[in-house]
Amino acid sequence: MAAAVGRICGARLLKNYGIVAPQVCQLSTSAKGWTKNRKLWLSTLGVVGGGVGALLFALEQSVQASGTEAHPYHQPWSHDGWFKSFDHASVRRGYEVYKQVCKACHSLQYIAYRNLVDVTHTEEQAKAEAAEVMVKDGPDEEGNYFERPGKLSDYFPSPYPNENAARAANNGAYPPDLSLIVSGRKGGEDYIFALLTGYVEAPAGVVLREGQNYNPYFPGGAISMAQVLFDEAAEYTDGTPATASQMAKDVATFLRWCSEPELDDRRLMTIKAIGMFSMLAAVVYYYKRHKWSSLKSRKLAYKPVSKK
Ligand code: HEC
Repeated sequence: MAAAVGRICGARLLKNYGIVAPQVCQLSTSAKGWTKNRKLWLSTLGVVGGGVGALLFALEQSVQASGTEAHPYHQPWSHDGWFKSFDHASVRRGYEVYKQVCKACHSLQYIAYRNLVDVTHTEEQAKAEAAEVMVKDGPDEEGNYFERPGKLSDYFPSPYPNENAARAANNGAYPPDLSLIVSGRKGGEDYIFALLTGYVEAPAGVVLREGQNYNPYFPGGAISMAQVLFDEAAEYTDGTPATASQMAKDVATFLRWCSEPELDDRRLMTIKAIGMFSMLAAVVYYYKRHKWSSLKSRKLAYKPVSKK
């Protein structure tokens, strides 16, 4: 584009116009040649744009500050960062925590047993995990529904047949599906960790209804889920001591994997893309210099034609 403009302007300059005005062609982007009006417009635009941006930022901050809940503190997750992958041993332990503790109340409906293969378990192990649960299937030849052991293609079964049953069993509160909870909550895995380890006595003046517990990280503070993670609440097959904070960390990592199973692939793509684009950028830079070299290094000379 700029090259085309240069060529056109250049061609015009070379024509015989007699005396050529000093500003026939303006290729430079410096503000020197701008008219007063243009300067005024652009500075107004800059000031108004900056002001609106600052206002939006301030509003967003004040909304965040108006909540009563405590903000989860940031943890140094092993999968944080452009070039980091999941800690798969931790994801596997997190699955064990989910299976032994959370599964009693929370579904994980978007994860199938086949998703575990080569992530946390070998194919054989994942098949064995699936075979431990009973899945409703059918209808068979006589038209009846029946139960059979799970297969790799089955999704994780829900603990309750429907939402009403779940609410009836939990004092009217609905334990949400955990498949996408990390992406669905502000703070992500930091929030899950803080929530699971943050149960405290309700401060004076806070009245809890029956079945409610106090957790400063939950919006409003009164949560219908009791503290579930205590030391030794689950057992790890790899022998890691199952402290409450260890389990909270592992289950939060596992739930991040559930929300973003493609995270490792994405990080690999990042490395490839950075490698390829930096090579392309070098070629493009060279090509740009090559194309512009004749334009940037030329010298125009004008020879007024004398009128006889
Ligand atoms: C005894 C049943 C029960 C168990 C076991 C349980 N939860 Fe919950 N959970 C609930 C209920 C009920 C709610 C809804 C609370 C509410 O809305 O007040 C809930 C809510 C949640 C929420 C959502 C909080 C929010 O911001 O809305 C998360 C996250 C969660 N549980 C994680 C877990 C994890 C992880 C485990 C396993 C370590 C677990 N829960 C075990 C019953 C349970």
